[in-house]
Amino acid sequence: MTLAPDLFAAVPGRVSLYEVSPRDGLQNENATVPLRGKLRLVDALVAAGLKRIEITSFVSPKWIPQLADADELAEALLAAHPTPQASSTDHLLEGQRLRFSALCPNARGLARARAAGIDEIAVFMSASETHNRKNINKSIDATLAEFEETIGPALDYGMRVRGYVSTVWGCPYEGDIDPRRAIEIALKLHEMGCYQVSLGDTIGSGTPRQTRDIMARALGELPLDSVAMHMHDTRGTALSNIIVGLEMGVRHFDASVGGMGGCPYAPGAAGNVATEDLAYMLHGMGIATGLDLERLVEAAKAAESIVGRALPGKVHQAGIRSLRA
Ligand code: HMG
Ligand code: MG
Repeated sequence: MTLAPDLFAAVPGRVSLYEVSPRDGLQNENATVPLRGKLRLVDALVAAGLKRIEITSFVSPKWIPQLADADELAEALLAAHPTPQASSTDHLLEGQRLRFSALCPNARGLARARAAGIDEIAVFMSASETHNRKNINKSIDATLAEFEETIGPALDYGMRVRGYVSTVWGCPYEGDIDPRRAIEIALKLHEMGCYQVSLGDTIGSGTPRQTRDIMARALGELPLDSVAMHMHDTRGTALSNIIVGLEMGVRHFDASVGGMGGCPYAPGAAGNVATEDLAYMLHGMGIATGLDLERLVEAAKAAESIVGRALPGKVHQAGIRSLRA
């Protein structure tokens, strides 16, 4: 039998994980986690070596009451982990400084982020008109217009801005989404000043061939380090889709310890790919992350005790087997 050429020939030697559990994870818990639990979670993430952590959302507390303490949380975390002034030219893969970011839908959110001392915001919208309206109460066009009032001023303040496009792999209301439309929006966000756009499989419906098609379009339009993948694992396909991205050279992935996560306005969305599961797979493939796997497992266990329920990630349950045993 002749083996096909190395499937992993193009995988990068190093990738960067962007941790979303304090935001994507805690926004989807039924019970609001008290401030001290959130601080404990972020401390555990920092101890595991994570450098890019989305700590909360400056959204309406009526829409996401679980994160209503965003201002207080950000101030407490920045006091506990003072970070040097951000630079938009910080390298995204190596030698990174710890950076806390927060979700921000509008100018009001930007003002709150700024007052709290946050120097990176993430704007978010959907490739699907219906999900966009359900999630942020606006059309796609009105959202892009509103982002003119958010991204531009944030950049003027010296902040870094990330972007999300949700429902790229499918929408809970509209079903299939045209990948050309999704990538058009991603490109627009990049042109408006987002240093990176994270493409979301919000409901975790994606499969590998589809991922190849979507990522080929994305990488055809956007610079490599401007593209990240945000894969929810509702149907167990997140790691398979990430392998496809890796094989195409993608170097930025969002993840959430324990596999927490979901969007309250996307019915059926379960957790993100678990950070410790992704790191286990990457390390086993010889891909560096800069993360301490044992401490990631500790962070996942801390997350379970903080949210008071078992979390779906696999590696924190099974343990880290020596890869050479
Ligand atoms: P709206 O009701 O249309 O907004 O909500 P509005 O401008 O009419 O304002 C209504 C009220 O909200 C006013 O207060 C505003 O001041 C207040 P009131 O006068 O009624 O007392 N308000 C705010 N308060 C605090 N901070 C703000 C803010 N903005 C307005 N920034 C809005 C529009 C966008 C605010 C709302 O729809 C919202 O907050 N949505 C957030 C939904 C959300 O966070 N969803 C989950 C995150 S997205 C996700 O999980 C997907 C992702 O993970 C990627 C993936 O998985 O694909 C990112
Ligand atoms: Mg998400």
